[in-house]
Amino acid sequence: MRITIRQTEDVEEIKKLDLACFPTDQREDFSDQEMWLATVDDEPVGFTAYKLEGGVPTITRMGVVPQARGMRLQVRFAHVAAQAARRAGFALIKTYVRADNLASLRNLIRAGFVPVKTWVEETSAAWFINLEKVLTKKA
Ligand SMILES: CC(C)(COP(=O)(O)OP(=O)(O)OC[C@H]1O[C@@H](n2cnc3c(N)ncnc32)[C@H](O)[C@@H]1OP(=O)(O)O)[C@@H](O)C(=O)NCCC(=O)NCCS
Repeated sequence: MRITIRQTEDVEEIKKLDLACFPTDQREDFSDQEMWLATVDDEPVGFTAYKLEGGVPTITRMGVVPQARGMRLQVRFAHVAAQAARRAGFALIKTYVRADNLASLRNLIRAGFVPVKTWVEETSAAWFINLEKVLTKKA
């Protein structure tokens, strides 16, 4: 099995994966985002993306299609995004997760993100957690 994660500008491929991984979420506009695609044996299986929010790279999505879950791809996505942000000269990277998404929360903490704030989304009444990672030379 050959796993690759590479940066991509293929918005259509990312949108397909986004729909497969987040079928009930509001659709994300990826046109202004840095994006990475994961493949297993050349088949697209997952993606991540960040955009600048207030000048800080903020990961908007990390998704793995159900058939390819369990290989810690999310942790790899978090490292890839953090490394790219550090190389681009940023000192911090942010993201957020629904507070009940324990698999994702655990993976982000494994990748060095630290919870910094909780908040409630008004429309869904769901709790979210904001996380940050300080980018050092070893990120
Ligand atoms: C969250 C998500 C990205 C994690 O994917 P991943 O990196 O493949 O997940 P992991 O390899 O860490 O596995 C997650 C857990 O499922 C378990 N698992 C193992 N095989 C699995 C399989 N075939 N299917 C699902 N889960 C499996 C893992 O053991 C792990 O549990 P653990 O933390 O107790 O060890 C993925 O579940 C997903 O896309 N979910 C929908 C979108 C989402 O919630 N994204 C994150 C918020 S932005």
